[in-house]
Amino acid sequence: MDLSGEIDQVTAALDGGVLTITMNRPSKKNALVPLMYTRMAELIERAGESASVRVILVTGGDACFSSGNDVTTFAGMDEDYGAAPKRFLKAIAHCELPIVAAVNGPAVGIGTTMLLHCDFVVVGEEALFRTPFVDLGVCPEAASSYLLPLRMGYFPGARMLLLGESLSADEALAQGLATAVYPVARVLPEARALAARLAGRSPTSLRVTKKLMRAPMLAGIDAAMERENSAFRTCYDAPEFGETLGAYLERRPANYSG
Ligand code: COA
Repeated sequence: MDLSGEIDQVTAALDGGVLTITMNRPSKKNALVPLMYTRMAELIERAGESASVRVILVTGGDACFSSGNDVTTFAGMDEDYGAAPKRFLKAIAHCELPIVAAVNGPAVGIGTTMLLHCDFVVVGEEALFRTPFVDLGVCPEAASSYLLPLRMGYFPGARMLLLGESLSADEALAQGLATAVYPVARVLPEARALAARLAGRSPTSLRVTKKLMRAPMLAGIDAAMERENSAFRTCYDAPEFGETLGAYLERRPANYSG
């Protein structure tokens, strides 16, 4: 598989040991569909096996990181659909290479939760983080039900996961979800500089050190993803699911009186 070029609205470029993966669906704010998840999973899996990749940099460009899963697909979701995001999440959670994220604009749903698997999260001043799973009638994914409260503390985690409240860039920095905040134009250059610094270090030591840092959490991450997958089914089968999703898409309050 080629580690460069644009396939399925995901751009890949390998330069100086840094594989840059860019979500490139700007007309839908980089909302993710199965082919995009699959392409990103393939790139991360392949990068992990390649001696020429030392670091992965994930971005969505200057305007938006990602608006999350494509909301128009939730209603028709089935096991086959779920396979692509699951493969992507497994790949990013188990990746042995350091991952740097460059985040500008909104990072919603999986746009936020994938960041919990990155080693450095460089964000723009106007970045916004939101996990509106309950608003959509679904539940957290990417082990965020475990990692978000662990990272931020339980109460701030509950504000994000139960109430769907947003975090600004500065709040994300203060709460341990971001490494550094820069003006928009500096985000990508700073993330690239950080990735280049990493790429110049001992590849074996980097891999081994990241593995050691994540080892105590990995079993918890895998178990949380399993729990979330079966909880998703519970939400999807709930009698109010259609009303919750419909209300979210139509931007009106949900009506559970019936
Ligand atoms: N899935 C599918 N389409 C999406 C999308 C998503 N997650 N997010 C945005 N879009 C589409 C919009 O429907 C719109 O399409 P249109 O031009 O055909 O009408 C286009 O992308 C631009 O979105 P818009 O809302 O006009 O941009 P914005 O800059 O005002 O706001 C966001 C950007 C990301 C804050 C906002 O689009 C948003 O909140 N999206 C929903 C995010 C979401 O709930 N994700 C699910 C997480 S689990």
